[in-house]
Amino acid sequence: MAVDTIRWTGKSVRIIDQTLLPGKLVYLDCRDVETLWHAIKTLKVRGAPALGIAAAFSVLLGMQSYKGNDGRDFVKTIEKMCAYVATSRPTAVNLFHALTQMRVLAKKNERLSVAMIKAILTSEAMAIYEEDRAVCRAMGAHGAKLIKNGATVMTVCNAGALATADYGTALGVMYAAKEAGRKFKVYALETRPLLQGARLTAWELRQNKIDVTLICDNMAATVMKNKGVDVIFVGADRIAANGDTANKIGTYMLAVLAKHHNVPFYVVAPKTTFDLKMKTGREIPIEEREADEVRRFANIMTAPVGVNVFNPAFDVTDNALIAGIVTEYGIIQKPYGTNILRALQAPKV
Ligand code: MRU
Repeated sequence: MAVDTIRWTGKSVRIIDQTLLPGKLVYLDCRDVETLWHAIKTLKVRGAPALGIAAAFSVLLGMQSYKGNDGRDFVKTIEKMCAYVATSRPTAVNLFHALTQMRVLAKKNERLSVAMIKAILTSEAMAIYEEDRAVCRAMGAHGAKLIKNGATVMTVCNAGALATADYGTALGVMYAAKEAGRKFKVYALETRPLLQGARLTAWELRQNKIDVTLICDNMAATVMKNKGVDVIFVGADRIAANGDTANKIGTYMLAVLAKHHNVPFYVVAPKTTFDLKMKTGREIPIEEREADEVRRFANIMTAPVGVNVFNPAFDVTDNALIAGIVTEYGIIQKPYGTNILRALQAPKV
């Protein structure tokens, strides 16, 4: 998948402005932390792994403007900046893991010169980016065997190249199956209110010549019943120690429907999306967004001004509904409590 979702140019964080897709493919250079924070908040850059990379790169942006030469003072500035970036979006744990990784490394090296600390942090951020690329390929290889020739697949939101540094998590599995020569068909849910499925997944899959059919979210049940769906793949924003999984709003609904229709429901996510500090999904913070995202559709008011709105951006799927979690280490199966721990302790890919 030849899209450059996010990269460090040496002076800026260059992202695709995903709010303009599929109409326009426009790159945006974020030259300061505030601009990047705003890009994260408004979903110009989005998707859990890409948010982890954005967080790591935000540290590189912030340190550019530091002109002093006191290592300890420099690290204090980095810590403040990480705290600021952490206020952008609450659910995708990849963002917090990357900020912690950068902050802890800076602190550990605070006795060094500012130039040395900058060099260490730059190479750490680049390693986070490169690791995501390798991990996408590993997840794809493990998950591809779940797609049989002639299968019908379903997905929600966008867990593809536009959400990672490479070809994605849930969509990565599809790209790997295609590379393995399998033919299959995908139903993509449009994913109200912000239409990541319609705007991003449908665009990405078409770019890659994968047979995709777009449906409204409320058509999923009838498609499962009347068209037949063989397997469902979704991404994740945070996975608790027991396997409960937070992902885009509508994922839980899809998992419940999948159980009724006997369709295996897989989560595809890297190690960086697990949060073992959270025992169950009940502890996962769920972002609530602006009411107007629901009151409007394509910027046209479709509801009375001022009507009460509930707009959670994510929901939590109970572990019992998940057939397996495809990771870079392989496919984790039940019982998740013990098997997640065992899998994540394996050496890095
Ligand atoms: O609000 P978004 O677009 O950032 O939500 C993204 C999702 O829910 C994705 O499914 C998830 O981050 C996995 S991306 C590989």
